[in-house]
Amino acid sequence: MIMTTGAEPVIRMFHVHKRYGSQMALHDVNLTVLKNDFVFITGQSGAGKTTLLRLLFLDEVVSQGQILVNGIHLQRIRRAKIPFLRRNMGVVFQDFRLIHSYTVYENVALVLETTGQQKRYIQKRARQVLRMVGLEDRLHAYPQRLSGGEQQRVAVARAAVGNPLILLADEPTGNLDTTAADMVFDLFRQLHTRGTTVIVATHDSRLFEKVQGRIVVLNQGCVESKLTV
Ligand SMILES: Nc1ncnc2c1ncn2[C@@H]1O[C@H](COP(=O)(O)OP(=O)(O)O)[C@@H](O)[C@H]1O
Ligand SMILES: [Mg+2]
Repeated sequence: MIMTTGAEPVIRMFHVHKRYGSQMALHDVNLTVLKNDFVFITGQSGAGKTTLLRLLFLDEVVSQGQILVNGIHLQRIRRAKIPFLRRNMGVVFQDFRLIHSYTVYENVALVLETTGQQKRYIQKRARQVLRMVGLEDRLHAYPQRLSGGEQQRVAVARAAVGNPLILLADEPTGNLDTTAADMVFDLFRQLHTRGTTVIVATHDSRLFEKVQGRIVVLNQGCVESKLTV
């Protein structure tokens, strides 16, 4: 019998193991994320949250097991195709990774420029997402002149600006107060409403109240539980 559930899987992880040398980071992880899911990956520091996200955009490769993203086998993808995989993804890095010689506005607009959008649309959309995260007054500042929390919000705006199919965010509110964290989640919710699949890694369980979603708990590299809230 064929079961139809409506939503299709966007990410599938089968028996994924990840080791860094002798250090085990993920152990036998099985996970399916459906289109338009909102998923929190949680667990204590060192549990493997960042590693799991990095495997999904091929910043790291699995030691064992398989990952499919949009039906693409990440273990078989040709190097030349990796940019196309990443084009569907917005990533908020834990350490931001902003371009320091670019202004706030330029860091965000660059995403749309590389996908060949019209100039007027780029200006409108980049300003819109930066307004949503409360940075409308900082458009022409350089990242090094910003606080950690402001840099983090630029990273969030950059990940969101292209309306990606998948948004991966690593501790995206780690440097933010409640007001700024709320702005970030308003933006995530807006993308989610428009069809983006959102995956947020966080050790902060207070974030779970901000949105209805699924929670995947990692403990020392293993999936300890999966809950729906
Ligand atoms: N580049 C690396 N080299 C060696 N060990 C690493 C590396 N990255 C992570 N680890 C180890 O893998 C485990 C999981 O780390 P990480 O995925 O960063 O966890 P989390 O994001 O939940 O804090 C930890 O024991 C960490 O020390
Ligand atoms: Mg981490």
